[in-house]
Amino acid sequence: MSQELLLESLATISACKTSQSLEDIRVALLGKKGKITEELKKLGGASPEERKTLGATLNQLKQEITDALEVKKIALTDSELNARLATEKLDVTLPAHVEQQGKIHPITQVAEEITAIFADLGFSTEVGPDIEDDEHNFTALNIPESHPARQMHDTFYLHGKGDNKTVLRTHTSPVQIRTMRAGKPPFRFIAAGSTYRCDSDLTHTPMFHQVEGLAIDKNINMGHLRGCISEFLRVFFELDNVPVRFRPSFFPFTEPSAEIDIGCARSKDSLKIGAGNDWLEIGGCGMVHPNVLKNCGINPDEWQGFAFGMGIERLAMLKYGIPDLRTFFESDVRWLSHYGFDPLHIPSLVGGL
Ligand code: PHE
Repeated sequence: MSQELLLESLATISACKTSQSLEDIRVALLGKKGKITEELKKLGGASPEERKTLGATLNQLKQEITDALEVKKIALTDSELNARLATEKLDVTLPAHVEQQGKIHPITQVAEEITAIFADLGFSTEVGPDIEDDEHNFTALNIPESHPARQMHDTFYLHGKGDNKTVLRTHTSPVQIRTMRAGKPPFRFIAAGSTYRCDSDLTHTPMFHQVEGLAIDKNINMGHLRGCISEFLRVFFELDNVPVRFRPSFFPFTEPSAEIDIGCARSKDSLKIGAGNDWLEIGGCGMVHPNVLKNCGINPDEWQGFAFGMGIERLAMLKYGIPDLRTFFESDVRWLSHYGFDPLHIPSLVGGL
């Protein structure tokens, strides 16, 4: 019986053509449930006499099969390697594969730079949804339904009615409401993100980006606001002296309110800051209106503060001399490879504060 098994096994091994099927044969013979293993298990039930002779035969059998498998394995591996070497060729004269390196979009880069500078001034970051409800985007910000200020924002309306009406947020100011309602004063944070207005011309795109800032504490005044904005702009533009102008303005959610302008020189295809006699508006700001604080359950006699909102595209255009706003969203890889940033160019405050 064992002689038969040996002959049969050796025949299968010798007929085997690939190392994978050789492995299958090994498992079928010597694996946990293999034929030889099963035979060896039966030894336990045999008489001591039988066990002696049968045991020796089976071990001999196992050894012979193991040796045959080993020899065959070497032969197969060799021939498989030779076959691969014969078919696979490496042509070292072929031109190298060009690796395309991606670039960071200026909006992302500038948003990170802004975040780093405000972090150093003690501001954390907050976020809110792009799809807002009417209440957060307008009503809670002291812009009631019939208020003419609603017309200042060319809103993209989505669906719903009344305060449940949803809109694409027209500014990042609703993040003020969400954050104040979710926590307790004092607050000091910025919120950067996409904003939307139904407006499209040389200097407006339907989607753009803003960074909102809010500082609520006791005894905060407009001087803190002015100091904070000027310090931010000085570090951001890496200039000792950035001309900043606060132009009186109106926002329903701040009182008093101002528009932030920054001094620049404009020519046909360049824009330079800190020189020249032109001004470019980069955002709005003011002292948070008492009604906004009340709408968030905060006592305006105890707490007050300032808020600001700046356009990220404007800041990016000024800092990096990008003349045309619309090019930001054209997805032109040539533009991106020119104005984009190296992924490892991580904003830091070196030379900053
Ligand atoms: N939300 C205003 C806008 O988009 C900007 C602003 C923010 C003004 C905060 C004052 C305070 O026009």
